[in-house]
Amino acid sequence: MRAIEISRYGAPEVLRETSRPDPVPGAGEVLIRVAAAGVNRPDVLQRRGLYPMPPGVSDLPGLEVAGTLVGGDIAATGLKQGDRVCALVAGGGYAELCAAPAPQVLPVPHGLTDIEAASLPETFFTVWQNVFHIAGLKAGEWLLVQGGSSGIGVAAIQMAKAFGATVIVTAGSADKCAACVALGADHALNYRTQDFAAEVERLTAGRGVDVVLDMVAGEYVAREVKCLANDGRIAIIAVQGGTTSTVDVGAVLRKRLAITGSTLRPRSVAYKGELARALRERVWPLVEAGRIKPVIHQVFPAAQAAQAHALMEASTHVGKIVLTW
Ligand SMILES: NC(=O)c1ccc[n+]([C@@H]2O[C@H](COP(=O)([O-])OP(=O)(O)OC[C@H]3O[C@@H](n4cnc5c(N)ncnc54)[C@H](OP(=O)(O)O)[C@@H]3O)[C@@H](O)[C@H]2O)c1
Repeated sequence: MRAIEISRYGAPEVLRETSRPDPVPGAGEVLIRVAAAGVNRPDVLQRRGLYPMPPGVSDLPGLEVAGTLVGGDIAATGLKQGDRVCALVAGGGYAELCAAPAPQVLPVPHGLTDIEAASLPETFFTVWQNVFHIAGLKAGEWLLVQGGSSGIGVAAIQMAKAFGATVIVTAGSADKCAACVALGADHALNYRTQDFAAEVERLTAGRGVDVVLDMVAGEYVAREVKCLANDGRIAIIAVQGGTTSTVDVGAVLRKRLAITGSTLRPRSVAYKGELARALRERVWPLVEAGRIKPVIHQVFPAAQAAQAHALMEASTHVGKIVLTW
């Protein structure tokens, strides 16, 4: 099969088309003929040598794919040979064929193209896990999303709105803020010109937000502690702003706050399978009803994966970047 490999750690150009043996699905895995694969920021980190794959996982990048079921333990998915599916994988997505654990495979939501379906798994699993499962966002609560125009952000905005929350986001330009509002965000703050903690206090009339989805961390955490309501929760999913912060722990106690962090990739198949079940039951119907939409910024042929990574690193995109075969 054709695949895109990381020939050595470095700049986008280290991504190279290559020929690899077809993957052999293991017990409880299926084989997918990949039509499209989503690009995620963790792929960029892996390419730079900052996010090694878990033991036993393909060295090829790529955490999500869409295509057709062609082999392996298809019965375990409840689907049939030739069905269109999308899947969360721990690696190996940038290839014409990809093995995926059956519990992490979902049918393509009715009405979606392969490109749209490939853009869903990594961000939808991550947002569901962090915002709803870990932080327990409820209808009527306030959510602050740092990085609202990211792949993760566009999923978080739409899911939180669909489940009845009020959403504030941060983004790095006026255009990105406008895009977030168009997707349903109630308020968008330009983090380059506005202090999100002061703005949250103003927008919530001093009450604060209930949940923060944080992909920045660093000194943001201290400011998030300031702008959380009583019983507030922070779910940290990345440390783009650094790994250290000086936090007012007195406020954590007084307001009964919870600060959590997680990475999805090393979690067990059973855990990811639970997330898949919840998504299929709670979120897929909203996607099929058009209430939650894939947001595709640009599509590249897989051979141009380097350009796709360069675009992601330029951070001019809103939503998802997708590769096709
Ligand atoms: N823990 C997990 O399980 C998990 C899973 C998937 C992804 N992630 C992480 O989630 C993040 C988003 O992933 P993605 O694929 O959606 O990437 P992406 O589309 O490239 O998004 C990165 C985002 O970070 C925002 N950002 C950077 N600095 C910021 C700051 N100081 N304040 C507010 N926003 C800031 C950028 O906003 P501007 O462009 O406007 O500057 C951009 O929207 C990545 O850091 C990724 O590693 C974690």
